Amino acid sequence: MSSQLLQTKSIDKLISESEQPEHRLRKTLGPWSLTALGIGAIIGSGIFVLTGTAAAGQQFVGHSILNAQMMDLVFSLLRHGHISAAALGGRPAAGPAIAVSFILVAVACSFAGLCYAELASMIPIAGSAYTYSYATLGEIFAWIIGWDLILEYAVSNVAVAVGFSGYFNDFLRLFGWAIPDRWAEPVISGGHWSGAYFNLPGFLIVVVLTVLLVRGIRESAETNNIMVAIKIGAILVFIAAGSLLIHPSNWHPFAPNGFPGILTGGAIVFFTYIGFDSVSTAAEESRNPQRDMPIGIIASLIVCTILYVSVAIVLLGMMKYTAFASGQAADAPVAYALRVLHASHFVYVMVVTGALMGMISSLLVFQYGQTRIWFAMSRDGLLPPIFSAVHKKYKTPHWSSWIACFAVALPAGIIDIGTAADLSNIGTLFAFILVSIGVIVLRRTQPDRPRGFRVPFSPWFPIISVIMCLLLMMGLLVVTWLRFIVWLILGLGIYWFYSRKHSEFHVPVASALENSPRH
Ligand code: ALA
Repeated sequence: MSSQLLQTKSIDKLISESEQPEHRLRKTLGPWSLTALGIGAIIGSGIFVLTGTAAAGQQFVGHSILNAQMMDLVFSLLRHGHISAAALGGRPAAGPAIAVSFILVAVACSFAGLCYAELASMIPIAGSAYTYSYATLGEIFAWIIGWDLILEYAVSNVAVAVGFSGYFNDFLRLFGWAIPDRWAEPVISGGHWSGAYFNLPGFLIVVVLTVLLVRGIRESAETNNIMVAIKIGAILVFIAAGSLLIHPSNWHPFAPNGFPGILTGGAIVFFTYIGFDSVSTAAEESRNPQRDMPIGIIASLIVCTILYVSVAIVLLGMMKYTAFASGQAADAPVAYALRVLHASHFVYVMVVTGALMGMISSLLVFQYGQTRIWFAMSRDGLLPPIFSAVHKKYKTPHWSSWIACFAVALPAGIIDIGTAADLSNIGTLFAFILVSIGVIVLRRTQPDRPRGFRVPFSPWFPIISVIMCLLLMMGLLVVTWLRFIVWLILGLGIYWFYSRKHSEFHVPVASALENSPRH
């Protein structure tokens, strides 16, 4: 049994399996499409929604242990031997130094990105971190990571779909229409019923995009390229127009809570970077993965960091960070600042439209990535065969796409963005840690296998990646940690009762006994 749990897949076998005609995906993507795919996934709702609240911090009402920061709790326990009241107050504001948080997170993501690039360039197979851990750490770790990646892909898409809904109504208001709040807001917000019935725009956008995805990657990638161009344009318009509305006094104090503020701000805005690794999920559909995977991952990370830092500096120069603590300023800070400071109508329309495009392309890439991971898991027998069935005409995993659709669209109709984003952050950071460890393991177990890209200074860079990801995880709330642990336990249950028995490495008990030396 333990040998099955730690069984690794041969990389050659992984590659040859993906070549089988009934499982083969079309190879259509080049470096530009991959970079666009990365930017499409990275810039979603995060930069338009979370920047303000991360800068403003969060004060919790009442002292609930579930709302405390994980790191404060640990420090408090280590220092005082008990949990101090200070640890329960909320999240300290980053202030304008949220721009530094973006850089800090970008550095962490770069280290993890290099690890992804190495593994993606040597294992160009659909499935991303899931496939890498199957080849390096063993079946049980592969299952855990595959299960965990649902948090990164599906759950983060829940957050983006909720963010989309808010901006969509802003967009409709430009024309004098609006969907009634009861049909366009989360039903459960901050753990309470908000009075809303269902978040309809969040639900519908996921359904529409699924139709596109089922039609095929070529069309979807082209659509994505256009949307990426529009959203970058819109962000540039915001930076240009917003910089004319800056009052430098808003930048003081720059870092009201020093490093703790910058770190916890980073743990929130980490969400805005989720997605760069999804480039690696397209490895199997890439024309030249050895060369193009690292280019796609690193290029998309650099472009987004420059845009994010610029947006943060401009936004926090336009208004005092404290203004973004609650209300409309917290829900849609970019649109709010433009409206309150009377930016031109043209600029406002451009930015709101671009934000919507950003969210749509992010949703598209994540839905795509989710189905490809399920596809790989099903091909290995860990999920039912329906997840790897390919549509006869379109050659896409259509069943997976529709299952992913409802797994995202229904919660998006119900829960709020903060809950989904935090859960997604912890799951993604955990995946990054496993991928970084995977690089170290493979360097030892398969030192001679060709790598299109090698992480410099290994094992130090992968180790730094692990440490930085852990640090960011510590900036998250205890309730998020609890949800994450429950999620992993649920996954292990499914593995035990289904996946273990259907895995290609499963040896039925009877034949195991027959082959045993004692018989
Ligand atoms: N990075 C994506 C976003 O910002 C998930 O929405």
